[in-house]
Amino acid sequence: MINITIRNEREEDYREVETLTREAFWNLYKPGCDEHFILHKMRTVSAFVRELDFVACDNEKIVGNIVYSKAKIQSERGEEYEVLCMGPIAVSPKYQRLGIGSMLMSESIAKAKQLGYRAVVIFGSPDYYHRFGYKNASDYNIKTSTGENFDAFMVLEIQKGGLTGIEGKFYEDDVFKVDAKELEEFENNFPYKEKLVTDTQLR
Ligand SMILES: CC(C)(COP(=O)(O)OP(=O)(O)OC[C@H]1O[C@@H](n2cnc3c(N)ncnc32)[C@H](O)[C@@H]1OP(=O)(O)O)[C@@H](O)C(=O)NCCC(=O)NCCS
Repeated sequence: MINITIRNEREEDYREVETLTREAFWNLYKPGCDEHFILHKMRTVSAFVRELDFVACDNEKIVGNIVYSKAKIQSERGEEYEVLCMGPIAVSPKYQRLGIGSMLMSESIAKAKQLGYRAVVIFGSPDYYHRFGYKNASDYNIKTSTGENFDAFMVLEIQKGGLTGIEGKFYEDDVFKVDAKELEEFENNFPYKEKLVTDTQLR
């Protein structure tokens, strides 16, 4: 019987969670993945929001994780507004489609609301995130840092009216910039996995 509980991540969980994230993302969006490395770096930057770092456990075993980092929306006049950026989120492949991702989303959104954050911005699959209330960022006149809008770029207002009067470009933390050489070195700490081109990478 699976028995899922959600709790904050602890330092001693980091390695297990990075391994899980690597398993969940491997070859999914590109050959290999870099999300486990982003996660590894994220815990060291000031943008990381420790209170919103959750793991899902099946009894003692960690089977899912969600993290958030501080990001900003900058208006044309140069005003900056703090928002959250969600991700990576990962559920162990064997535990996917059991509602665990949804539990991590709901719990973390409730906590983010309680902490007073105004909104969350993500890049992800609209089919999955609209069910949590995420809307196309263009509904809020929020664009990417390069001035673009597309369906995968979404915003969730977590305080009522939290984005009223706020529009502009979205900037995520530099932790999402991955140096290919550093990633390669980091990869050496994990058991070898073959990088493949797969159908899911076309989506
Ligand atoms: C995305 C992820 C965290 C969802 O976790 P989960 O525990 O499987 O999700 P839940 O069981 O709560 O929800 C499953 C639902 O989400 C849908 N879903 C899951 N991943 C999806 C995706 N990438 N795109 C669209 N829908 C998705 C399923 O179709 C299912 O819908 P249904 O209930 O209508 O059948 C998990 O699939 C995962 O780790 N994926 C690999 C890593 C990843 O893509 N992370 C997100 C990057 S933006």
